[in-house]
Formats: sequence, C-alpha cells, structure tokens
Amino acid sequence: MTKELKGKHFLSCDDWTKEELDVVFDTSFELKEQFRNEVPHLHLPHKTLFMIFFEQSTRTRNSMEAGMTQLGGHAHDLTSDKMQLSHGESPKDTAIILSRMGHGIASRNCFYGIGYDYLNEMAEHSTKPVMSLQDDIYHPFQGLADLMTIFEQFGKNLKGLKVTVSWAYADTHSKPLSVPQTQALLFPRFGIDLTIVHPEEFPLSKNIIERANKRAEEGGGSLKIVNDMDEAFEGAQIVIPKNWGGFGAYGVQEYLDNEDKCKKEMKENLEKYKSWICDERRIKLADKNVKLMHALPADRGHEVTNEIIDNPDISVVFDEAENRLHTAKAIMALTM
Ligand code: CP
Repeated sequence: MTKELKGKHFLSCDDWTKEELDVVFDTSFELKEQFRNEVPHLHLPHKTLFMIFFEQSTRTRNSMEAGMTQLGGHAHDLTSDKMQLSHGESPKDTAIILSRMGHGIASRNCFYGIGYDYLNEMAEHSTKPVMSLQDDIYHPFQGLADLMTIFEQFGKNLKGLKVTVSWAYADTHSKPLSVPQTQALLFPRFGIDLTIVHPEEFPLSKNIIERANKRAEEGGGSLKIVNDMDEAFEGAQIVIPKNWGGFGAYGVQEYLDNEDKCKKEMKENLEKYKSWICDERRIKLADKNVKLMHALPADRGHEVTNEIIDNPDISVVFDEAENRLHTAKAIMALTM
C-alpha cells in the first residue's frame, strides 16, 4: 500500500488529483478481487475509525464498518445523539479527542449550509484523516463507486461516453445536492460528456457548475445543462435518474434565514414535476445498450419504474452499491 496518501483528508474528490484518484481505483479493483477470492487483505490491523452519522444510512454505514473489519481494524458506529455533540460540544474538540484515540474520523452531516463546513472544521483540528460520508455539497465515496462501476461497464477510456444525470420526482424527503454535484465535478475529469437535466427550480449550486466546467476543460470531457428530460435521454449510454431538493435555487444565507419559506416553495415546485420518471418510454430514447445507475435508495415508481431498475440488462445499481465497499476500503487503506 503506497505511503503517499497517508493522512490525507477525503472531503471531496475534487481535492484529489487525477493521479491520486487513479491510485484509489487501482486499489479498489485489487481489493475487490481479493474480497471475491477470499484473500485476506489486513492493511489496517488494530486500527480504529470513528464514524459519526447525523442522518440515516444503509450503504455508507455498512460499507465503512464492514470495510474496516475486512481490513483488520474496527469502526465505531456513532450517531450524533449518542455523543456530547448533541449538547453542543464543538466539532473542533470532538476531532482533537477522537484523533488522539484512533486513526480516522468519518462523518455524514447533510444540513444545508452547515455539513461541509462542519467536516472542514473537524479536518482542520484532527491529526488523523477525516472522511466525508456525505454532506450538503459533496458525496465523495459515492462518486468513487459510480466511476468504478462505469469503468467496469465501459473500460478505462471514457472519452466521449454520454452520461445523463437527471433530476427525477420523489415524494420522500428533500435530498441533498451532493450526489449530482460530485458527479458533475468528477465525471468530466475522466473524459465523460455529461448532461445534467433538471426543472428550472431545481438547479445545482452555481459555484459548483462553474468549477465543473473548468474540470471538464482540464479533463477532456464536457458538461451540458438542459431542462428537458426527454432531450437529455436521447442517445445517453448511462442514465442516472435521481431526485434532489431545490436548495441550489437559494443562496446559503438566504436559505438559512428563510428555511420554512424555502421548504414550502420547494415542496410546491416538486409537485409540478411528477412526470419526471425514468420509464420504458424514456429508456427507449437512450442508446440501445443504455445502463441505469442510481446511488440508492431509489424511490421506485417515482424516480424509476420497477421494470427498469429490475431489468438486469439495463440496471447496474447493485454493482454500484457493492462498489461502495471496495472504494471505501481503498480510501481507508490508503489514508489511515
Ligand atoms: N448512496 C448512499 O449514500 O446510501 P446510504 O444513504 O444508504 O448510505
């Protein structure tokens, strides 16, 4: 295991060079092979990771905890209500203390305008690597698993691959912008021609799109934003239909100062777009060998129909979910 990345925080894929990410992917594929063949790979014997979840999780929690066990260490599965954080202890003090007791800190905090800053404050004061398990801006572990799955499906040269990330209707909760924003920043760096489609009221953050355009120029891919779901599906080789909240329509301070009003507007806007679903008709607009990806959990019957997500010729969502394990282990093994 290379020593060069030891101690490096993982708060966004955008903080890692393409060369560093290539090392992560090579390690992920190696670890996947070893996992499949039951070859022991105890890169982190006796090491401890502290995980602090402010929100629910299935994939992230279990990929990290199972990953630590398989690497020979242990992960503490903590929630904010179990800790003095709930009585106001600062992220700074928490990070100093946990980094004295273990070898890594990971946290999920998706509160809009708060989560990423919170993780950054921990990283500033931790002497051990801090990893984002998703925040209000980024979901870096998801981005890695997505790209690993794309490599498996289309090979390592992704130049010109047509990928569509589409907003879709859901009636659950206002999901963070972090998954599509991570994809917007990451995919074009690897040569992908990315189309993002959303209703006008559900944009991604302006500063992320500006940065994603720069990343596309550097990486040889491209980024296009449109508002017509059918148009965005035409010829796509991968479609990723996913709901996100309308947070990007507001400045962070504007949202925090008027949270109730913004939430009400977002809910009203959401109900206008129930037809934004990935179904048989729309899949037929895409490339004949199109693949469906989704970070999961999927809102079946709203974001995507059962017949599409359960179609093994189209859907690779469970490979994508499994790859959360291998990419998580790569980051932990390389940084801790
Ligand atoms: N995709 C993802 O992050 O899933 P969980 O919310 O279950 O962790």
